[in-house]
Amino acid sequence: MYSVQDVITIGISSQKGGVGKTTVSINLAYAFARAGRKVLIIDADPQGSVGLSLTRKTRSLRGFFDYLSDKDLSFKNVVVPTRMETLSLVPAGKGSDYDMSNGFEPSPSTEAGVKSFLKEAETAGYDICIVDTAAGLFGVTKEALMGVDAVLVPQQAEPLGIRSMPKMLEALKKVRVLNPRLQILGVVLTMVQRNLRESVEAGYGLRSVLPEKLVMLAEIPREDIFIKASARGLPVGVLKEGYRVLEEFDLLRKEVEEKLTVTDNLKKR
Ligand SMILES: Nc1ncnc2c1ncn2[C@@H]1O[C@H](COP(=O)(O)OP(=O)(O)OP(=O)(O)O)[C@@H](O)[C@H]1O
Ligand SMILES: [Mg+2]
Repeated sequence: MYSVQDVITIGISSQKGGVGKTTVSINLAYAFARAGRKVLIIDADPQGSVGLSLTRKTRSLRGFFDYLSDKDLSFKNVVVPTRMETLSLVPAGKGSDYDMSNGFEPSPSTEAGVKSFLKEAETAGYDICIVDTAAGLFGVTKEALMGVDAVLVPQQAEPLGIRSMPKMLEALKKVRVLNPRLQILGVVLTMVQRNLRESVEAGYGLRSVLPEKLVMLAEIPREDIFIKASARGLPVGVLKEGYRVLEEFDLLRKEVEEKLTVTDNLKKR
């Protein structure tokens, strides 16, 4: 187990939209929080999905994008507690409305802002920071990946998306040239339908195009309960019927922890 004082920042990213990044971010953060970790989930997507899902009110709160545009706003002003003591979140914030209508053009000050934000998150006493990013590897997402320790890539279990995975990993390796401590945790299959041939084959396909160590063993099934959970503003695990999915996310959490441990041990040698 990595030592508690080491703060780990994990970006959740993908080239394609709608593959389950926000769902993985929220539920993985919840799995870590249940395991006793002090967790901060950061919504670095101008769409503001994490806030909408976890507290529903966060559209009117200040958040990550306000911090980037207002140098007088402190880190503490944008952290929102949740019903769970070990889980806090930073919503995308009001500033993100502007970005959605104009597209986000990062400036040198944005780059510095993202870096200082992640640094503050690291020194604020959290064990794990999970950064939910917008699709693509440019703009704020790229800058976030320059500042995190590790990246996890959700991918929907459907044939078309799988083909682009080697490219995505190549692109991440390029980011690693700029951020050498970036650990590529791997790809996690989402929305898996075990009773649908195409979905199962997509899983095999993924394992055939990527090295074994880059595909997570845990797979997230497609379940209606995810839609129910976000409608009620909750991670799926808190719903009584969500126990099965809770287990899947706990497996994913353990796998992520193991991968981080291996790297940590190597660093100490
Ligand atoms: N395992 C699942 N089972 C069923 N529905 C799911 C699952 N994961 C995600 N969804 C649904 O699929 C849609 C897309 O998921 P999500 O918002 O997590 O993707 P995303 O990658 O964050 O999207 P974006 O690129 O727009 O940020 C949502 O409506 C979500 O509720
Ligand atoms: Mg999202």
